[in-house]
Amino acid sequence: MMPAPRYRIAFIWFVVLAFAANALPAAERLPGKSAVASASPLATAAGHEILAKGGNAFDAAVAITAALAVVYPTGSGLAGGGFYLLHRASDGRDVMIDAREKAPAAASRDMFLGPDGNPVPGLSLNSALAAGIAGEPAGMEHLVKEYGRLPLAVSLAPAIRLAHEGFPVSPHLRAVIEYKREVFAKQKEVAPIWLRKGAAPALGTVIRQPQLARTLETLAKHGMRDFYEGAIARRLVAGVRKLGGIWTAEDLAAYRIVERAPIVGDYRGARIISAPPPSSGGIVLVEALNILSGYDLAQLDSATRKHLIIASMRRGHRDRAVWLGDPDFVEMPVAELIHPYYAAGLRASIRLDRAMPSAELPGILPAPQGPQTTHFSVLDAEGNRVAGTITLNFLFGSGLVVPGTGLFLNNEMDDFSKKAGVPNGFQLVGNAANEIAPGKRMLSSMTPTFIESPRGLMIAGSPGGSYITGMVLLATLDFLDGRSAAEIVAAPRIHHQYLPDVLQYERDALTPNEIESLTKRGYTLRESKRGWGNLQVITWDYASGRVDAASDPRGEGEGQVY
Ligand code: GLY
Repeated sequence: MMPAPRYRIAFIWFVVLAFAANALPAAERLPGKSAVASASPLATAAGHEILAKGGNAFDAAVAITAALAVVYPTGSGLAGGGFYLLHRASDGRDVMIDAREKAPAAASRDMFLGPDGNPVPGLSLNSALAAGIAGEPAGMEHLVKEYGRLPLAVSLAPAIRLAHEGFPVSPHLRAVIEYKREVFAKQKEVAPIWLRKGAAPALGTVIRQPQLARTLETLAKHGMRDFYEGAIARRLVAGVRKLGGIWTAEDLAAYRIVERAPIVGDYRGARIISAPPPSSGGIVLVEALNILSGYDLAQLDSATRKHLIIASMRRGHRDRAVWLGDPDFVEMPVAELIHPYYAAGLRASIRLDRAMPSAELPGILPAPQGPQTTHFSVLDAEGNRVAGTITLNFLFGSGLVVPGTGLFLNNEMDDFSKKAGVPNGFQLVGNAANEIAPGKRMLSSMTPTFIESPRGLMIAGSPGGSYITGMVLLATLDFLDGRSAAEIVAAPRIHHQYLPDVLQYERDALTPNEIESLTKRGYTLRESKRGWGNLQVITWDYASGRVDAASDPRGEGEGQVY
């Protein structure tokens, strides 16, 4: 019913303004609330503390990164690297800070091969040679200087406190310490902190890290350049070389982050903003969505829908293997790979009634990734956002701590292809575009992503090596189907990465009927007993103004809205 005439004009204006507000690009809306989702409640709280102090999403990202280095060193740390996908609300700028590790200048293509020409088992994982030159501190410094509002020392304060006062051992951490027990026991600065009488500490044991606290205090006082050119840099070079590594003072001094334009795509009216190379994530995600855009997935039976999602993952990962590497070193046909016409050609190779074996796709084998990493998502009340995926690669990286720093060394060199066609510890093999070269960044699967749709916004990402991009693809489809943040992170997952040519699924991801239908199409199916990933998702529904944050129930994290 129309209101009385004297209210009519006001009513019409109300409708027009409400409509206009809904039609505004996301950059011009104000969520009015902030939210953080991370793999640790303590890191989520650190982000909130900095937002409450007047920091923006970028300051919070620094605080969360530092806190994760203290309380979640299985996933990331200062002697590691990562990607920070940013959206600045004031001018709508989308950019990715590439803080990926780089091969040291003394690295060489065959450095992990033994006299027999084959990779020496474990060398690219468990030794100081496995460490790329770390990028995370430079990424944090750039966040503070170019995008943040608070001094570095303020944003590092929660992490320094956590390192001094300690935090309790959780079930996940206890299990990983147990896994790394022998490596820790051999290091005299590590064992007293992470072990009790040579064993993993009991649940709830408080872990204090005074040396890491001192490192963080030095960085807070002198700035992150100290990691690259100051006292900490000298300690790092001496320590890494003593451990058998090849870092030099010049390597550290020369490290620079790169600001890169994100990969942008469109899927049925939603805008996809994701990680560009040296991550494969954005390209594989957009390519898969381009393939899927030719189908009305909602109208298909569930087995056919899953068959098509897997077909798109298979083709996206195949292109990762063939084409992708560090953009500063290799030419890549990025525009072609994310073009809808290219996807139309790939779609023509997909039959609804049967799977095409990976061996029938032209190309070579995929490149390696590690299963461990971590992701956080932040939205502030002004609409600034960060999707940060940061890593040491495998659990606790190499497990080696640089003496005098409290810092775990990454083992990201394993993300390079050490020898074409030879699988790494993750059963994957690589290609020349991703071979080792001095100063080169190793190819990554990390996929920090923003999805902007008429429904609203999603900020998402996850650890999980080669599983990451598929998880973000599934999260995108779920978000566009109207699912909540909590439903998105909890949904059971399916995965295909081209090779091995296996459709993996979590328990409950496929019904018996779907299993039968997919088997008939020719798939080799494998149920994963433990599941994978640790998605951290924030959603913002434009119509209701509702903001939600959710952390994957497979992990121990927390999403909070403030
Ligand atoms: N280290 C995991 C990745 O970058 O893909």
